[in-house]
Amino acid sequence: MKIKVGVIYGGESVEHEVSIISALQAMNKMDQEKYEIIPIYITKTREWYTGEMLKDIEVYQDLSLIKKYGKNVVLYYNNGSYVLQKKSFPKSIVTDIDIAFPIVHGTNVEDGVLQGYLQSIGIPFVGSDVYGSVVGQDKVYMKEIWSGASLPMTKYVWFYDVDYKQDSEEVLKKVSKLKYPLIIKPATTGSSVGISVANNEEELIEGIDDAIQYDKKILVEEVVENLKEVNIAVMGNYEHQRVSEIEEVLSGNKFLTYEDKYIGGGKGKLKGCKTPVKGSSKGMASASRKLPAELDNKLKEEIEKVAVEAFKVLGSSGNSRIDFLIDEKKGKVYINEINSIPGSLAFYLWDAKGVNFTSVLDDMINIGVKDYKKRVSMVHSFDTNILKGFAANGGVKGMKGMKGKLR
Ligand SMILES: Nc1ncnc2c1ncn2[C@@H]1O[C@H](COP(=O)(O)OP(=O)(O)O)[C@@H](O)[C@H]1O
Ligand SMILES: [Mg+2]
Repeated sequence: MKIKVGVIYGGESVEHEVSIISALQAMNKMDQEKYEIIPIYITKTREWYTGEMLKDIEVYQDLSLIKKYGKNVVLYYNNGSYVLQKKSFPKSIVTDIDIAFPIVHGTNVEDGVLQGYLQSIGIPFVGSDVYGSVVGQDKVYMKEIWSGASLPMTKYVWFYDVDYKQDSEEVLKKVSKLKYPLIIKPATTGSSVGISVANNEEELIEGIDDAIQYDKKILVEEVVENLKEVNIAVMGNYEHQRVSEIEEVLSGNKFLTYEDKYIGGGKGKLKGCKTPVKGSSKGMASASRKLPAELDNKLKEEIEKVAVEAFKVLGSSGNSRIDFLIDEKKGKVYINEINSIPGSLAFYLWDAKGVNFTSVLDDMINIGVKDYKKRVSMVHSFDTNILKGFAANGGVKGMKGMKGKLR
């Protein structure tokens, strides 16, 4: 019998469209002999739809088609299985699901929100659990954890918007320990939203004012100069990890060019500094890149080693992409960020190593099953007679004596 894989994608995220592309690419490459693939699309307004038609990219151009012909469903635990049930009358069960496969990007989905739901109903699922997903989205959390593991990073500071609003001088004093140029980032947005570069305090203030519109947590870090950006994927979980080929991201808007244009010229906005991947029809797979990246063995080995360590200390699982910044002149490597569910699932990085997309998906599902088995094997509850004790004291009435103490 085939394993029923529910591929969950979309959601209320700025990377909604990229997620549709990544999910369709994956569904297309999943082993049809082994798996029955069930698309589960979350609209931007958080409604869940299923139906074969969702495998066709054309339908996403007209949401009314999905609303008319797709089945609006909920996913829940029902009598020992996980089911998709229609929300409208007749509220029939559409199908059961053996394992969920989230292919989502960005806030509200990739960041632990969706994983929390899946974990709370108990369904096996692919990828990082709640903890790994949360720390994989929040740049401050990930950096604090990596810094605890002594991984090489640019110097940074972070603060809350309230602290800045209450005492900006104190915050600026903290930032003044860093060397310009600086880069200002909201902690959780992604896609370069709200990111800017500052050459002096005036630009720094401007950058912070911009960033706090997007997030309550702000990160300021030193810019890596003579920049070469490289990415690598790590597959596994906390027990085993292996690495993909390394790519060099070549963007028309490469940071250096941008730096020439803006850091020299004043405003320092990084908008558009992103690689041209996001939003393009082939998703992350269509970025312009050098694959494999040209690196000497020493740097390559360092990147592989740091990537594995970074993946492990965050408690990541599945197939993540870890991005690095290299100062080419100094020959120094800095870890920048992790993407716990990368665009196009970074299949091209595995492909370059001779592992095709179908086996990447297979491996990811197998790891998800292993993680699930581990989760259920752990002790999550223990029998206690604490409630009995309450009953003996007169049940809920016994609470009366606690009045005021439980606050
Ligand atoms: N410390 C830095 N030095 C130089 N360039 C940086 C630095 N941090 C980020 N960048 C540039 O900004 C881009 C976006 O920053 P990143 O931290 O990756 O955020 P996002 O989550 O939006 O991708 C990077 O791809 C890189 O080009
Ligand atoms: Mg990035």
